[in-house]
Amino acid sequence: MIDKVKNLLNEVLLYSPKNIEDLEQFRIQYLGKKGKMNDLFAAFKEVPKEQKKAFGQALNQLKQAIQDKLDDSMNLFSDNTQKSSGLDLSKPVAANQLGSRHPLSLVRNQIIEIFKRIGFTLSEGPEIEDDWHNFTALNLPEEHPARDMQDTFFIQRNPDVLLRTHTSSVQVRFMQNNNPPIRILSPGRVFRNEAISYRSHCIFHQIEGLYIDTDVSFADLKQTLIYFAKEMFGDKTEIRLRPSYFPFTEPSAEVDVYWGLNSESDYKITKGTGWLEIMGCGMVDPNVLKNCDIDPDIYTGFAFGMGIERIAMLKYQIKDLRLFFENDVRFLEQFKSAF
Ligand code: PHE
Repeated sequence: MIDKVKNLLNEVLLYSPKNIEDLEQFRIQYLGKKGKMNDLFAAFKEVPKEQKKAFGQALNQLKQAIQDKLDDSMNLFSDNTQKSSGLDLSKPVAANQLGSRHPLSLVRNQIIEIFKRIGFTLSEGPEIEDDWHNFTALNLPEEHPARDMQDTFFIQRNPDVLLRTHTSSVQVRFMQNNNPPIRILSPGRVFRNEAISYRSHCIFHQIEGLYIDTDVSFADLKQTLIYFAKEMFGDKTEIRLRPSYFPFTEPSAEVDVYWGLNSESDYKITKGTGWLEIMGCGMVDPNVLKNCDIDPDIYTGFAFGMGIERIAMLKYQIKDLRLFFENDVRFLEQFKSAF
């Protein structure tokens, strides 16, 4: 028996396949279900006890030789096919350029994460809006002077179709289709007809928040804003609320974060105050609730809208808003380690 195994081993070592089909035949002959190896393993049972060890070793050696032959020949064949197809796997690889997230995406995700923890979910709306959702439903009727604050780009007049000037339009869409309690966050791109400078642009990004329920008060709004500012900028962050005006909230306020007054550019960015405005907010005007079929005698709520660029400027101490849109890789690469 053992001689038979040794003969086979010799055969295997001398074998040289002509092509890949030939090699497959070889494999079946030896390792197939009805192949020689299976026969030999079956015969193992009959071998007298004292020869079992030597026989077993010879068998293993044979099996290994078969496997080596298969592997080596396979490599050879695949090498040949690669070469004839012009593919050379031994070529050095070109180093992969790892990308990074855009700072605005980083900041947007962080803001979403912070509000998610207090129960806000996401809702988005279209960038091309009609007059009703962007202005009229938000208590900004036609000819209302407050429309001047948000001049935009019109796609069509009568009926007016325009690029939305704020994400507040998503408030309307959501309230019309959902019943309170409502707790949503709506990130997105907005547009205004504004001169481009280091602190404003005709395209920018906002995140809108809306909270409608019974008994929501201004204290809830204030507490939510303080929670957000501390989570976003650190425990020592100071904010201040300035009375302001928005047609869709009453009372309304502007939220500022302390930026500092250490350099000349700080004076420029904060208009000499040291404070940087990051969002508008207020209690949702009863007229807006009515326009969206929500009963203002039962429900109250607050809303806020913040500029993502402003927050990112504060967070990363970026002094020119235009950098976000130029896509200069030297700028973008600096955020590789951020997540
Ligand atoms: N939509 C306002 C703006 O873009 C911001 C805002 C949102 C104010 C929600 C109050 C409430 O200026």
